[in-house]
Amino acid sequence: PMERTALKDKIKRLLKEKNAVMVSHYYVHPDLQDLAEETGGLVSDSLEMARFGRDHSAQTLVVSGVKFMGETSKILSPHKTVLMPDLDATCSLDLGCPISEFNAFCDAHPDRTVVVYANTSAAVKARADWLVTSSCALDIVKALKDKGQKILWAPDKHLGGYIQRETGADMVFWEGACIVHDEFKAFELEALIQEHPKAKVLVHPESPQDVVALAHAVGSTSAILKAAQTLDADTFIVATDNGMLHKLRTLNPTKTFIEAPTAGNSATCKSCAHCPWMAMNGLAGVARVLEHGLNEVHVDHQLIDRARLPIDRMLAFTA
Ligand code: 13P
Ligand code: SF4
Repeated sequence: PMERTALKDKIKRLLKEKNAVMVSHYYVHPDLQDLAEETGGLVSDSLEMARFGRDHSAQTLVVSGVKFMGETSKILSPHKTVLMPDLDATCSLDLGCPISEFNAFCDAHPDRTVVVYANTSAAVKARADWLVTSSCALDIVKALKDKGQKILWAPDKHLGGYIQRETGADMVFWEGACIVHDEFKAFELEALIQEHPKAKVLVHPESPQDVVALAHAVGSTSAILKAAQTLDADTFIVATDNGMLHKLRTLNPTKTFIEAPTAGNSATCKSCAHCPWMAMNGLAGVARVLEHGLNEVHVDHQLIDRARLPIDRMLAFTA
C-alpha cells in the first residue's frame, strides 16, 4: 500500500484538480481530520459539516463520516457531487428506523410535531417537521414546547430522554440507540471517577441516562470540545467515540483525556468505543474516490425537495 505521506500528497493534488473540498467528522481517523483542515476543508460535528458543505463554493464535496452525513450534504447541495470513501458506512440509528415503520408511528400520532435526529435516512427526514442534531436539539425542542407543541421524537431514545428531562416537553419516543454510546457503563464509570476525583466528565447525550447523570458537561461533539477548553480541570473522562480524543488532545496538550469505560474496554479491549462505520473511512478510500469519481451519493429528487424543509429550518434556527 502507498504510504501515508504519498497518499496525503496525492489527495491534496486531486482536491485542487477536481475543485473538491474535504469535510470530516470528529470520529474519523486523525489523518482525515488533519487533512481536511490542512486543505481548507472542515472537521466538525454533524451540524457544522452540513452547513459548511452547503456554503462552500467547491463543486465536489468529499464527506468522511457516515451515510446520513453524505445524504444531508447532497440534499442541501443537489447540484454538487458528493463522494464518500465507503458508501456502506451507515449508523445504527439510521438502520433502526426504517421509513415504513416510521410512517406508521407518525400516522398514529397526527397531533405531534415530528422532530427527527440527523442520524436518519433521507426518507425519514422527508417525513419530519424539524431536523435536529445533538448540538441544537435541546434549544429547538425548548422553543417548540414554548409554542405549546407536543413532540414525536426519533430515533435516539437516550438523546430524546435527556431532552425530555431537561425541557419537560410532552414527547413520545422511537426506541433507537447508538451501538457505540449505548455501551458506556455507569457502574464502571463511577469507579473510574473515584480513581480520578478531580477529573471532569464529558458525555455525549446518546449515552444511557445513568451515564449522563454522572456528567459535568453533556453535549454534542463540538460541545464536548468546548467544555474541555473552558472547564477548569487538568483531567477529563470522555464518554463518546474515541476518535474525538485526537482533537481534544491536540487542542489541549497539557490536559489528560481518559476514555470512559464500556463493557469491553476495562480489561479485554482498550478501544471499544469506536464506531465501526466511521472506521470504514481512510486515506486510501478518499484518494480512490477522488481519482475515479466513485461512490457518489444519490438522493431521490422528490425526497430532496421534501427533506430539505426540516434541514433548512434547523440551519436557520442555529444561524
Ligand atoms: P454530532 O452531531 O455530535 O457530531 O454526533 C453525530 C454522531 O454520529 C454521534 O454519534
Ligand atoms: Fe451512528 Fe453511533 Fe456511529 Fe454516530 S457513533 S454514526 S450515532 S452508530
